[in-house]
Amino acid sequence: MATRTQSRSSSSNRSSTGNRRGNPGNAGNPNQPRKADGEFTSRSNSRSRGSDRSAFSWGEGAGPILGAALAGAAIGFAANYGRKALMQGMQAAAGDWDEILATEHDMALAIFDKMLATDQSQTFKRKMLLMKLTHALDKHAHQEEMVVYPALREANEAVDADHLEGEHGYIKTFIYELNEMGADSPNWLEKVREFRQLVSSHAHMEEEEVFPRFKQDLTDEQNARITSLVNRDGFWMA
Ligand SMILES: [Fe+2]
Ligand SMILES: [Fe+2]
Repeated sequence: MATRTQSRSSSSNRSSTGNRRGNPGNAGNPNQPRKADGEFTSRSNSRSRGSDRSAFSWGEGAGPILGAALAGAAIGFAANYGRKALMQGMQAAAGDWDEILATEHDMALAIFDKMLATDQSQTFKRKMLLMKLTHALDKHAHQEEMVVYPALREANEAVDADHLEGEHGYIKTFIYELNEMGADSPNWLEKVREFRQLVSSHAHMEEEEVFPRFKQDLTDEQNARITSLVNRDGFWMA
């Protein structure tokens, strides 16, 4: 998001810099001949003539369409931002970083249980649940890989951090395999069961061994900082 914002502002800076340098463009210079309006409106006349038309120039009547598109985009952005804020609020209410992550483990395991309760005819439901699980695990892994595991390595816990991050790779492999095999495959439930076992043992190692050992040596400030970073990362991934 930041990159897009930066590129927007840098492009507007470039444009305003050009104006300050005294390059008002064709429209502002009465000595330059102007093309007739009709030349830009009859696109079918010639391909070559169409090619000198900027992709960013708009014909008459495009204003209301552009305005509606921008308004739609603004509404979509506001709705998405509101949804993210709601998700973050829910997450912040969950407590410290390790409690947030443990709650997410429970949520992922609950999705697995719904998947295991389906039968071979419920392909649509299986696909929807797999999408939901993929999003939940993706967001969760991002928070751990961008915040918690780097903090573990800083605290000389690199072996555990590397082991856990390696398991995230096998979690992605299960998602890949499930997508490839199709929701009506006779092996689908067996694959989901194996997948759940990996996520469950991975979560158990984090919750019962690695995170408590790491947390007990953190100062209150360090603990609060990691919670804040996990919340921030979760906000953008929500
Ligand atoms: Fe993990
Ligand atoms: Fe985790």
